[in-house]
Amino acid sequence: MDTVAPEERAARDDNWRREMDALHERTRKLHLFEFWSTDSETEHEAVRKLQKFDKAKPHIWRYADVLPCLEKAGELIDMHDSERRSLIMCNPSLGGQIATTNTLFAAYRINNPNEIAPAHRHSPNAIRLGLTGHTNFTGVEGEPITFGPGDLVLTPHDTWHNHGNEGEGGAVNLSVLDMPLVNTLNATYFESDYYEEDEHGERIRADVQANRFPADYSQRVYGNGGLMPRSVSHARGTGDASPMYVYRWERTREALENLRPYEGNGFEAVLLEYVDPTTGRAPYATMTFFAQMLRPGERTLKLRQNASLIVTVIEGTGHSLIDGERYDWQPFDTFCVPGGHWLEHVNETAGGGDAILFVSSDEPALTAMRFYMKHGRRPDGGIVRLA
Ligand SMILES: [Fe+2]
Repeated sequence: MDTVAPEERAARDDNWRREMDALHERTRKLHLFEFWSTDSETEHEAVRKLQKFDKAKPHIWRYADVLPCLEKAGELIDMHDSERRSLIMCNPSLGGQIATTNTLFAAYRINNPNEIAPAHRHSPNAIRLGLTGHTNFTGVEGEPITFGPGDLVLTPHDTWHNHGNEGEGGAVNLSVLDMPLVNTLNATYFESDYYEEDEHGERIRADVQANRFPADYSQRVYGNGGLMPRSVSHARGTGDASPMYVYRWERTREALENLRPYEGNGFEAVLLEYVDPTTGRAPYATMTFFAQMLRPGERTLKLRQNASLIVTVIEGTGHSLIDGERYDWQPFDTFCVPGGHWLEHVNETAGGGDAILFVSSDEPALTAMRFYMKHGRRPDGGIVRLA
């Protein structure tokens, strides 16, 4: 109960306000956030400020806009200038950060004919997805992988790898890294200057890795779902990411085809996850990847999750609705769906064809921290928890 007379309260409020202002001036100079409140309005404001951060927003990058810039970069920049020619998709609402979502970034990369960049390794996990050309090249821990459209290549954290192009034609690929997440954890490092190999018992500095495995090693050993090889070592790289370094498109496409007759839950069309074949779990602790097929005319029901997605169109045309806002897409366009938005996909491929999306997600990071949630909205408006 307030026992202070109104005139006394007014005097107290004047002094009190002056002292509070002086206190706030001191705390701000000391880089302190005053997390308190003196009434319900400031309580609300304080909590709002505490939750404030630069949140990625949905955005689409159209390949038709990006390709001429990539090709121009291919003309202007050679391997002597730079080991890489990549255009990273930067989310317009992340204040200049090099990030597509808060945790991941994706880039288009062009490799000119017959170039192989020096071997390097780094703490962020990365993948490459072939888009054009059949001679994209990545050597990973001594396995030489030449890849084409739809092939997925892993370069797990701390594995030595070389990127390049083994052929005469141009080759474009998509890369996805968990670097914004690794940066947030202040755990990013790169090493490129001292790749060494054993030669006659001596350690010799090398730019390009020698082949220590046959080119089809990953497929030969791990490409038989449901059959677990027990006579070879799975200790590749640091041993805590998938030892299968390439997932060939032909197999993925065939697996999608085999699932065609099964309707699924209506929220995710036909969905395949690329997994570590030795555990059945996501290939990385931070990221996972999916091939998603929308059958002719298929439209998914609304789905919302707190994982952030980067979606690249492999086949077909259509549109997606993100919180009702429409994003039209065609092959090789990339759009991001930060966590928290309702998402629907619509296949509008002419002639009744499929649409196939390649989806990168930070779901394993959220799962590891027990934050992961996924909900669907049924046609009657009811919400169903999916994870
Ligand atoms: Fe790399």
